Amino acid sequence: MAEEARPLSWVLDAATAYLARRGVDSPRATAEHLAARILRCGRSAVAQRLDLPFSPAAAAAMGRGTRRVAAGEPLQYVLGQWDFRDFTLKTDSRALVPRPETEQLVDLALSSPRLRAAASPRLMDYGTGSGCIAIALARALPGAVVAAVDVSAPALALAAENAAALGVADRVKFVDASALDLADAFEPASFDAIVSNPPYIPSAVCDRLDPKVRDHEPRLALDGGADGMDVLRQVCEEAGLLLAPEGELYLELDAESGQATPVSELLADLGFGPVRTHPDLSRRPRFVSAVLQAGL
Ligand SMILES: C[S@@+](CC[C@H](N)C(=O)[O-])C[C@H]1O[C@@H](n2cnc3c(N)ncnc32)[C@H](O)[C@@H]1O
Repeated sequence: MAEEARPLSWVLDAATAYLARRGVDSPRATAEHLAARILRCGRSAVAQRLDLPFSPAAAAAMGRGTRRVAAGEPLQYVLGQWDFRDFTLKTDSRALVPRPETEQLVDLALSSPRLRAAASPRLMDYGTGSGCIAIALARALPGAVVAAVDVSAPALALAAENAAALGVADRVKFVDASALDLADAFEPASFDAIVSNPPYIPSAVCDRLDPKVRDHEPRLALDGGADGMDVLRQVCEEAGLLLAPEGELYLELDAESGQATPVSELLADLGFGPVRTHPDLSRRPRFVSAVLQAGL
């Protein structure tokens, strides 16, 4: 006998209860995201379809999705896509899930009058992951050319898929930094701005992260070494070589482990100034911006 189609409201209630029993945060919102993905509509449209029948095939897909989320997989990987600023990225376990804080980092870079006025700014996204920063910059600055750097071949492959799908592949150049020294790969003073959300979590803290993050997102995207600053230091030092005079550096870092002060001090030593710290939406010191002073 063919299975009976249930209304979407019934499926959503059942999925919400299942996710809540398994301790998933925001179970209703999670169920709505899954239903919207299956129905190929926006989440707000789900509310308008509550009385409509959800086919047995759709209900089976919903079951698979809820079980994966309940087992601890990030919702963004289960959905296979996630919104970042005004576009949608493909998301999977090859790269970090793009975070709202990183949208703020992009906003900070895009608030630069110098970058907005430049006809064709030369930019670098250091640690591109899914490509979210590089693609956001390329979309917002139509003359920009962006070098999207990573040491992870799987992340670079995902970022390239995203750049192609979002129509900026001609202006985002991918650079595998695993086997090369960036200071050798580019001429000195090749960039007008470098934007980076590097791995910045201290190794010991990584071991204690929420299992949803620790066991599913790439360790390479999270672990910044003993004090979390291994790659941050590298970015600052290489930015000192690769930025043009008056070139701008925008960094995201770990507010919890107090990295803004040592990073600012390092940048001042490397010839950057002014160096500024910027808060995230929770008013924590999350971002540092700096301008490379013209040399002698
Ligand atoms: C925190 S993730 C950020 C990803 C993406 N930019 C975002 O904001 O969602 C850091 C990225 O840096 C890359 N990475 C780690 N070490 C690196 C290094 N030494 N040089 C370049 N990229 C590195 C990781 O593979 C990862 O994709």
